[in-house]
This record gives sequence, C-alpha cells and structure tokens, in this order.
Amino acid sequence: MANPELAIIPQHVAIIMDGNGRWANKRGLPRTIGHTKGVEAVRETVKAAGDAGVRYLTLFAFSSENWTRPEAEVHDLLGLLRRFIRRDLAELHRENIRIRVIGERENLRGDILPLLLEAEDTTRHNTGLTLVIAFNYGARNEIARAFAKLARDIESGALKASDIDVDSISRSLDTAGIPDPDLIIRTSGEERLSNFLLWQAAYSELVFLPDYWPDFDRNLFFEALKIFASRDRRFGGLSNKTAAVGG
Ligand code: IPE
Ligand code: IPE
Ligand code: MG
Repeated sequence: MANPELAIIPQHVAIIMDGNGRWANKRGLPRTIGHTKGVEAVRETVKAAGDAGVRYLTLFAFSSENWTRPEAEVHDLLGLLRRFIRRDLAELHRENIRIRVIGERENLRGDILPLLLEAEDTTRHNTGLTLVIAFNYGARNEIARAFAKLARDIESGALKASDIDVDSISRSLDTAGIPDPDLIIRTSGEERLSNFLLWQAAYSELVFLPDYWPDFDRNLFFEALKIFASRDRRFGGLSNKTAAVGG
C-alpha cells in the first residue's frame, strides 16, 4: 500500500451497519428507504475492502434480536437480503469472493436459508476476500450452541472435558477457521457491541463513527483503516515502541 498511513492493513474487518432508520427519519422518509440505501453502502464497502487488501469482511446484516421489530420492517429487511443475494451473487463469484454465513440456522423458515447456503456453496472454492454475512446472528446464542456441541461430543465420548480450551471453543463457533476481527467498525454514533462477536472481539480495535450506515462509503472505510493503523495494539504485553526503548 503506497499510503504510509495505511501501512497496517487489518486482516479482518467486521462492521455493525447501524443507522439506516435514523438516516431516513432525518429526511422524512420511511425507514425502509434507509435500508435500501444501506445495500448500496454494502456494495461499495465490499469493493473497498477487496481493494484495500483486507482478507475477511464480516457484515452484521440481521441480529437474532431484530425479529422483535415490526413485522413489516422484518419483511423489508429479509426482502433486501434476498434481493442482494439473487442480484449480486454472480458478480461476487466473478470477483473471486468467498461467502460465509454465521448465525443460527435452526428454525429459519422460507427461502432465505437455502439462498444463503447456495451463496456459500457457489463461492466455496474462491480465494479472494471472504465476505462473512452475519444473519440471525447473536453472539450469546452462538456461544451457547458451541457449548452444547462440545457437551454432545463429551457425551458421545469423542471429547474429554479436559480437551475444552480456548482453541476447541473457537473451533466450535460459527466463525471456525476465520481469524478474530482486528477492527470492528460501528456507524451511527452508538458505542456498543449489541451481541456481536463477543468471544472473537477480545482484542479487536473498536472504531465508532458518527455517520449513519447509508452514508458509509469508500472514504469512510479508508478513514477507519487509518484510525486502526494509528492504534497501538498491545495484547496485554508491551507496545513495540516501549519495548524498543527498553521499557
Ligand atoms: C441498521 O439500521 C440495520 C439493521 C439493524 C438491520 P437500523 O435499522 O438499526 O437503524 P436505526 O438504528 O434505527 O437508525
Ligand atoms: C445491531 O444494530 C444489529 C445490526 C446492525 C444488524 P441494532 O440497531 O439492532 O442494535 P441496537 O438495538 O441499537 O443495540
Ligand atoms: Mg440500529
């Protein structure tokens, strides 16, 4: 990367795409227009992440708690996701993008799950950016399912209780095989994780931007990368700078 401010590119960026409703409200438009505009921001962000050399991009598309919204809004959100996969899958595939889906799959009705599985299957062997779509995702539910799986393995004799450690838990999560996010971005000025990647976020850098998601674009993505590059990640140890001067 020629720009020295972007010397450190995060391997995995995860985004809580928030503020579609407020973006629309501010303009006196129905919330659904905000969601529609949000899909354009998704397209731009996927391109920007690929261009920046990011390897994994996780997008929080629909949380396990979002079902509590009015039925009409849930319907609109599902419709947009369905259309995004139908319209964009071929191009994502052409761009060598691999799609992974995280979130609870049990009890999902309708055609959404088959569509998501088709997207995963079609792009399984691609070697470019991995686009992780968090759908019907809640981190506590993900962790509970991982524990239940480990417990079943112990019951069947495939695993011993003493085998349970950080690695075996990580391998039992929906994100198995995906490195933890280096950077988590949340738009809309809210500063919370809202049940997103709680286990994986242990050492993520958090960047909160005031902008609403429909206004997110390539420039804001690179702005967040710049903030990330300026951070001093210590992982509980000493910073490289401190270590260099002998503590
Ligand atoms: C993000 O925007 C989209 C989803 C959560 C699915 P919101 O719909 O949460 O927008 P605000 O937070 O109400 O502005
Ligand atoms: C988080 O946003 C979920 C997604 C972006 C899909 P919310 O808008 O649902 O979060 P809260 O309710 O403000 O915490
Ligand atoms: Mg919100």
